[in-house]
Amino acid sequence: MRPEIIVVGAGGHAKVCIELLQAQGDKVAYCVGNPDSVDSCLGIEVLKSDDHLQALRTEGYERVFIAIGSNAVRKKLATKTTEMGFQLVNAISPAAIVSPSASLGLGIAVMAGSVINAEASIGDLCIVNTGATIDHDCVLGLGVHVAPQCALAGNVHIGSLSFIGVGSKIIPEIYIGESAVVGAGSVVISNIDSAVTVVGVPAKALHKI
Ligand SMILES: CC(C)(COP(=O)(O)OP(=O)(O)OC[C@H]1O[C@@H](n2cnc3c(N)ncnc32)[C@H](O)[C@@H]1OP(=O)(O)O)[C@@H](O)C(=O)NCCC(=O)NCCS
Repeated sequence: MRPEIIVVGAGGHAKVCIELLQAQGDKVAYCVGNPDSVDSCLGIEVLKSDDHLQALRTEGYERVFIAIGSNAVRKKLATKTTEMGFQLVNAISPAAIVSPSASLGLGIAVMAGSVINAEASIGDLCIVNTGATIDHDCVLGLGVHVAPQCALAGNVHIGSLSFIGVGSKIIPEIYIGESAVVGAGSVVISNIDSAVTVVGVPAKALHKI
């Protein structure tokens, strides 16, 4: 089996993830993009279709990182690649601070300057983006994206595939449902239902604004 990693994605988020993987000592063999992708991403050849994945698996590659910002697409491609027999790897910056008592899922990105504190739980395929802080006892479900410079206070629960926009703040003990969206710069002081978009300070459902 080949130890090099296949990165699915070839955009800006993929660039950051490739550098995280390289910083932890991994080598990236190829990116897999789509027909509109660039030819190379940080000097790594981009194969321009998911159709290449099966051939790469047959060639002996078994480690994959899904570097796609969209939560739903990331989940779909993770399912597709794991069904082919790929294993999801993590990309964790050496400049992140991760508590030894935190639990981490598979296929996660934890970027520079982020902090994951005591007994927090980070689900599979989550993104903890640059400078985001996830405090004690927080629980992030599958495929949650916490954008740069967000601050989650203690014991915040976020349901699968939800997105927390750049610079948002969430007070302690808040529950957010699945596939919810918190707009950039929001301050969340009450629970949020699934599939709702909220914005503002304090955050309110978008349709009420
Ligand atoms: C919340 C968000 C998803 C809404 O996007 P959208 O559905 O396209 O909404 P629109 O841009 O049409 O805006 C609808 C209304 O909400 C307001 N609004 C949108 N985002 C807002 C925000 N973050 N805070 C306050 N008001 C906001 C708009 O001003 C607009 O108000 P109006 O109807 O009075 O003109 C988007 O604005 C946002 O904040 N995205 C976060 C992006 C991000 O953090 N990316 C990080 C990537 S790592």
